[in-house]
Amino acid sequence: MTTATQAWTRRHILSLMDFSVAELDMILQTAASFREVLFRKMKKVPALQGQVVTNMFFEPSTRTRSSFELAAKRLSADTMNFAPGSSSLSKGETILDTAKTYLAMGTDIMVIRHKQSGVPQAIAAEMDRINSGVSVLNAGDGLHAHPSQALLDLFTICRVVDPEKPRCEVVKGKKIAIVGDVIHSRVARSNIWSLTAAGAEVHLAAPPTLLPELFRELAVGTNRKLFVHWQIDEAIADADFVMTLRLQHERMTDHLLPSLREYHRGFGITAERLKSCKPEVKILHPGPVNRGVELASEIMDHPALSLVSEQVTNGVAVRMALLYLIGSSKANQYSHS
Ligand code: NCD
Repeated sequence: MTTATQAWTRRHILSLMDFSVAELDMILQTAASFREVLFRKMKKVPALQGQVVTNMFFEPSTRTRSSFELAAKRLSADTMNFAPGSSSLSKGETILDTAKTYLAMGTDIMVIRHKQSGVPQAIAAEMDRINSGVSVLNAGDGLHAHPSQALLDLFTICRVVDPEKPRCEVVKGKKIAIVGDVIHSRVARSNIWSLTAAGAEVHLAAPPTLLPELFRELAVGTNRKLFVHWQIDEAIADADFVMTLRLQHERMTDHLLPSLREYHRGFGITAERLKSCKPEVKILHPGPVNRGVELASEIMDHPALSLVSEQVTNGVAVRMALLYLIGSSKANQYSHS
């Protein structure tokens, strides 16, 4: 892992839009070694001993928050958790002042989730402006990005192809369908960048109300392979992986779908539908799942098809890798943020 830290140059991880294959491979390789740690009897390493990781989740979260907390603990960092309901935010404190309060307590890494796109970036900019040296990790901001989720998805997909040595090369040319509420999904947006950078063919599928044509333009003028479908069939035909997304009712301001039953009929992932995929197809879902809406219950629980639990396990290893790469290169000279 020494090579990895020597080459790591980012202080913050805010989006995957400009991540190179070399950087993605560094994360995959680091996560692979931490995954081994998680299966030992002694599941802890001293890598971030003495550093403080603060989880600042301004929006509800189960798995991402717990996963970051466990990842930090497995690296022997001290952790603090911020919960907006019981905080001074309700007394009118601004988010930047909340961040500065945690900085004053010695925070080294801030893990930030907010329902508004751009909040992690704003905090990172302020931390840089005052030369704090603090790193910001985006744990999901509005519709914008969810880098750690997309990286754990990439890691999970790569491990299916080569469990020993997960790396971008193994997903080159693989067909990956992302089906569901793309318009409201920061997970989809981050996955588009990482999967296409790794050389996979990404096929988005949803009704037009959940998948505007604009998505096609993300890849224009690049060699990224990104396709948009308003019917599911072409998207999943011969697919190696199908990633389903939750219908995000809390972000829907209008009635974008005739009914949930209608949606399930058109885009739900069922055993019948999967017959058109590759025989060894695997299913991913970032969670939480609306069972029977975007994903049939029997598929979600199917041990040979579903990667859902594997994604959760891998999430801890990938988040350890991100905290480690950022935290242990703090002494290095950063070439860019
Ligand atoms: C996702 C999120 O919050 O963006 N979930 C997660 O982080 N595991 C997706 C979702 O909420 O549907």
